[in-house]
Amino acid sequence: MENGSEKWKFEGNKGLNASSVSVRGVYNMLMDSINNNENKKSVIRLCRVDPTDNPLFKTSPDASEAVADAVHSFNFNSYPPTVGLPDAKRAIANYLSSDLPYQLSPEDVFITVGGTQAIDIILPVFARPGANILLSRPGYPQYDSRAACCRLEVRYFDLLPERGWEVDLDSLEALADENTVAMVIINPSNPCGNVFTYQHLKKVAETATKLGICVISDEVYAHLAFGSNPFVSMGVFSSIVPVITIGSLSKRWLVPGWRTGWIAKCDPHKIFQKTGIVANIISYLEITSDPPTIMQAAIPQILEKTKAEFHLKNLNIMREAADIFYDVCNEISCLTCPHKPEGAMSAMVEINFAQVKGIIDDVDFCVKLAKEESVMLLPGVTVGLKNWLRISLAVDASELEEGLRRLKAFSLRHAIS
Ligand SMILES: Cc1ncc(COP(=O)(O)O)c(C=O)c1O
Repeated sequence: MENGSEKWKFEGNKGLNASSVSVRGVYNMLMDSINNNENKKSVIRLCRVDPTDNPLFKTSPDASEAVADAVHSFNFNSYPPTVGLPDAKRAIANYLSSDLPYQLSPEDVFITVGGTQAIDIILPVFARPGANILLSRPGYPQYDSRAACCRLEVRYFDLLPERGWEVDLDSLEALADENTVAMVIINPSNPCGNVFTYQHLKKVAETATKLGICVISDEVYAHLAFGSNPFVSMGVFSSIVPVITIGSLSKRWLVPGWRTGWIAKCDPHKIFQKTGIVANIISYLEITSDPPTIMQAAIPQILEKTKAEFHLKNLNIMREAADIFYDVCNEISCLTCPHKPEGAMSAMVEINFAQVKGIIDDVDFCVKLAKEESVMLLPGVTVGLKNWLRISLAVDASELEEGLRRLKAFSLRHAIS
């Protein structure tokens, strides 16, 4: 672009436009199609995974009191220390250590603005010129966008629906080269709703160590496992491979608006120390914003005082949602759910185009569904799997049932006769 005879010396960062189909972009597009339609049906949002969409999902009174206590003490109105309040780091280290065969120290923990900022920090830390990172397909799009921003090349390994969404370890090995620095695994999985077994995670760790790369384990949905596989933290295998875990209060405590998360390094052999990764994380934290001091101050009470019944009740709600979803889904001929959800708060279903007419792809499916039924689903392409759909289960059972009822009616209307 010209400025008279001068040439402007700036231009938009193309990396920021990396994901052409973003979750929020799709959300706005579907809302537009609902706003422009004729029907007056209530809007059912099964396209985003926000637990506050379910009125039964209220955080524990212990957590609310912890925040209120921090506010009323007037002791936490200052800027927090760069790497986080020491008591909060200690509490997170203790909380995570209960899943591990060894004790983490407060120095292993860095507090972040939700899981999102943990991703925003950790990817640039691993990005050196020419480096690449291995992400799953399907996956969580924040990784793709962040990698593009810091010019970290992305290579995709598959999750296999027919094998309960296990990592295709052969494709993983084939992708890596001398510039591969890390792989990301999400467990329990958004979007697939599976929970990886101990044996499979061990194989992932063994593969990663063979490739000389670290594992970034996104455990934002940690402990949200309501099927037969218990949640196992990747940190259990950190004597095999160095592991970074990403966590958050958002899902387990049902408070995504509290914007509180963490990065923890599980690295008994101190490989992250030796390779400069720890120094880099600290440098990054020195130039970025911190979670509010109030939230950090509340962390010890939240993690230590929340009662087991609170978590149990939420798991029962999720299990019931998964049952409802799976039963109805099996009655919809144009959709296949290859694996009943057993963790996290969403599921993936494949569109069977042999059973529907007049629909081109997953985006078209979602736009038409929104227009005709005011039901919002996420097109699979947004999470890396074209012609699939992601369905959120984090809604009230009656809302989910009504959404699925309309989805079934839509499928029948578009069925090939
Ligand atoms: C897999 C995964 N990682 C990270 C995040 C971001 O976490 P937070 O909401 O705490 O920022 C999410 C949020 O949905 C997620 O699903």
